[in-house]
Amino acid sequence: MRTLNDIRSTFLSYFARNGHEVVDSSPLVPRNDPTLMFANSGMVQFKNLFTGVETRDYSRATTAQKCVRAGGKHNDLDNVGYTARHHTFFEMLGNFSFGDYFKSDAIPFAWEMVTRELGIPKDKLLVTVYKSDDEAAEIWKKVAGLTDDRIIRIGDKPDGGSDNFWQMGPTGPCGPCTEIFYDHGEKFWGGPPGSPEEDGDRFIEIWNLVFMQFEQFEDGSRRDLEAQSIDTGMGIERVAALLQGTNDNYATDLMRSLIEASADATSTDPDGPGKTHHRVIADHLRSTSFLLADGVMPSNDGRGYVLRRIMRRAMRHAHLLGAKDPLMHRLVPALVRQMGAAYPELGRAQALIEETLKLEETRFKQTLDRGLKLLDDELADLPEGAELPGAAAFKLYDTYGFPLDLTQDALREKGRAVDTDGFDAAMAEQKAKARAAWSGTGEAADAAVWYDVADAHGATDFLGYDTETAEGQIAALIVDGAQAEQAGEGTSVQIALNQTPFYAESGGQVGDTGLIRTETGLARVSDTKKTAGVFVHIAEVTEGTVSQGQAATLEVDHTRRSMIRANHSATHLLHEALRGALGDHVAQRGSLNAPDRLRFDFSHGKALAADELSRVEGEVNQFIRQNSAVDTRIMTPDDARAMGAQALFGEKYGDEVRVVSMGQAPTGKGANKQTYSIELCGGTHVARTGDIGAFVLLGDSASSAGVRRIEALTGQAALAHLRDQDQRLGDVAAALKAQPSDVPARVRALLDERKALANEVAQLRRDLAMSGGAGKAGEEAAAREVNGVPFLAQVLSGVSGKDLPALIDEHKSRLESGVVLLIADTGGKAAVAAGVTGDLTGRVSAVDLVRAAVAELGGKGGGGRPDMAQGGGADAANAEAAIKAAETVLEG
Ligand code: SER
Repeated sequence: MRTLNDIRSTFLSYFARNGHEVVDSSPLVPRNDPTLMFANSGMVQFKNLFTGVETRDYSRATTAQKCVRAGGKHNDLDNVGYTARHHTFFEMLGNFSFGDYFKSDAIPFAWEMVTRELGIPKDKLLVTVYKSDDEAAEIWKKVAGLTDDRIIRIGDKPDGGSDNFWQMGPTGPCGPCTEIFYDHGEKFWGGPPGSPEEDGDRFIEIWNLVFMQFEQFEDGSRRDLEAQSIDTGMGIERVAALLQGTNDNYATDLMRSLIEASADATSTDPDGPGKTHHRVIADHLRSTSFLLADGVMPSNDGRGYVLRRIMRRAMRHAHLLGAKDPLMHRLVPALVRQMGAAYPELGRAQALIEETLKLEETRFKQTLDRGLKLLDDELADLPEGAELPGAAAFKLYDTYGFPLDLTQDALREKGRAVDTDGFDAAMAEQKAKARAAWSGTGEAADAAVWYDVADAHGATDFLGYDTETAEGQIAALIVDGAQAEQAGEGTSVQIALNQTPFYAESGGQVGDTGLIRTETGLARVSDTKKTAGVFVHIAEVTEGTVSQGQAATLEVDHTRRSMIRANHSATHLLHEALRGALGDHVAQRGSLNAPDRLRFDFSHGKALAADELSRVEGEVNQFIRQNSAVDTRIMTPDDARAMGAQALFGEKYGDEVRVVSMGQAPTGKGANKQTYSIELCGGTHVARTGDIGAFVLLGDSASSAGVRRIEALTGQAALAHLRDQDQRLGDVAAALKAQPSDVPARVRALLDERKALANEVAQLRRDLAMSGGAGKAGEEAAAREVNGVPFLAQVLSGVSGKDLPALIDEHKSRLESGVVLLIADTGGKAAVAAGVTGDLTGRVSAVDLVRAAVAELGGKGGGGRPDMAQGGGADAANAEAAIKAAETVLEG
């Protein structure tokens, strides 16, 4: 039997032998196409090669491309499980020529592949060509020997579309095509292409060869491409079916093995009454697993919501099979066995896929029963065949987590539909209420405009965990607070797009900066913020004009983002190191992750000791050197906490949280402590801890009561800081004429010396003053009698006011009984002090003496005790008069 895996490798190796580069499938989330939700054909990753915008070092390629058609324009979800060929996930085999070969080679390649390599009998095949494409018809005749009745010309459809003219979308590369059909024989109903019965099951298209020769523009015009190219797409599941003697894709080896895994796990018959459920499960297992492997996570918006819808649809079918416990995650190993070799990303993400499916199913099971009961109750009250009211479908959506298509799927089995207008009206009403509640919170009025944008375009899809460049479509432009059609050079503008790699400021991480480029202009983004789920790119148009609706290339400033990432991951390590060093009371109180530094505020009552700081710094660096992978998962807040995740105190978390783990701690502190740091976090992080480079603590300070603040540097900034410190030390060493290592001892010795000198100077000054001032060293000042009291008065230079009390005391003890008045001339100004020995304070007060002197010295006041008082004035030249005034007081 030709297995599906055989067919894939036969196809790729045939084209490899014929000079084609075997290129890996691109991820399901297209990076280069803003209008597309998921890759839906092989040519998506080559779009820019056809138009000549991009060139690569090969001009022939072949791929097996992962495709998802669910959500958006090509939505096959509703039919999956009920038909033989609808899938949400499928693989497209293709060969491509970028300006290399054209029709006359593409057709022979295809014919040889189909008839010789795959061995499909020639007489079972027929082809279609575009109605005016005589050239293609001639080549078919010549190469395949097909008669005219087996070369069917197909033209434009009455609705303006065309069957044999392929366009990737309203714009982009396009051209006429030729399709190969397989006739499954008379036992199936149906007619050849172009006939009224063409939609039957007999004639099945297996391969589409597109002759890319035009580019289509928005205004309906087309241009000839410089180079003529080839894009082909073969549905591997259909080819496998016919080679395995069936026309049911679900009967092929790969799909069958998944169906049997589903039947085994539920102990049910794969072909019994639950047949449809198994088919839905097999298909949805593929799309959900591949989407998860490509980084899409279930959410309530955008791609994540499409994933959630598929998951929940599968889960309802598992429930209908009677599965009591979550089922989907148990089927993942069967899928990895089948497809893991061709798509290694599946094996790499296996644990994540299983965990996410299990979580989603466990949670959904909690409301599924009650939701289905509500649905039954509603239906019981409805007349035969009536639609389910929109309000009921909305309640199922809002309260029980039933996506609309899940409700529709459940009703389909009962031959009923949903009043979708009513559902939309209920949804609009809820949004209006949310908005009214929001306006009541008094946030800035200009945010209102973003609620309009969110209503019209939905939330922005954030791609920035996986990529720093992507394409997006401009959903809205805001200039001066109002929506604008376009913004010209020099305009400050706020830009919203359907998707973006720019991180919007939150959780302490600053917003990204970078460039937004369209065909007509360039805008420089200086910050990114988030309002109402819309990412607001704050920008200035620096070239040309940017317009609403335009496709744009988005480029995050890579260097800056790398620095922010390093700081954010280092903050997580720092948090854990602080808990280790100080205790479990350490909880985050705030943080800043900027490109140039990080700041972390945490609860702790006192300053960190030097050894605590160095222990923390050392531990963070130890985990940086460990260079372990940083792991990100989505889970419920409760599961995250049970796992030991650090959450922000008082923060409100949604149904799901992102959990970022890093570091392996071999000496774990608790049951779940094998992983060093586990935090709830929506930020962007390094891939491995080693990417942080280095970590340097700048110090710790008080932020507010009971909260400490640490600032630190990482990577290049940390090294630059160390270099700078080193440079300063070198300068000090040079000034001291010492080695850097001797600097501390030398500085200590200098300080000791300085202290000794200071003491010596003070003593010398005292000696000098006692002897009557500069120039009279050695002579003792003498007291004279005034009013029967020994009175010693001196004017001193070279001493300061604060030296006077000690001098007064010394004179007093020498005199034993008497009055002392000292005036220090401190460069024009004067300080004065008076002292009276204890036996005389009854007769005269030092305060009165000082006041009299101060008045003469041009000062005011003066004060102290009766035995000692001080004061000062601006005029030292009047010192003699001041002495005279004091003498007069003494004279009484
Ligand atoms: N782009 C064409 C298709 O999707 C051929 O690959 O059918």
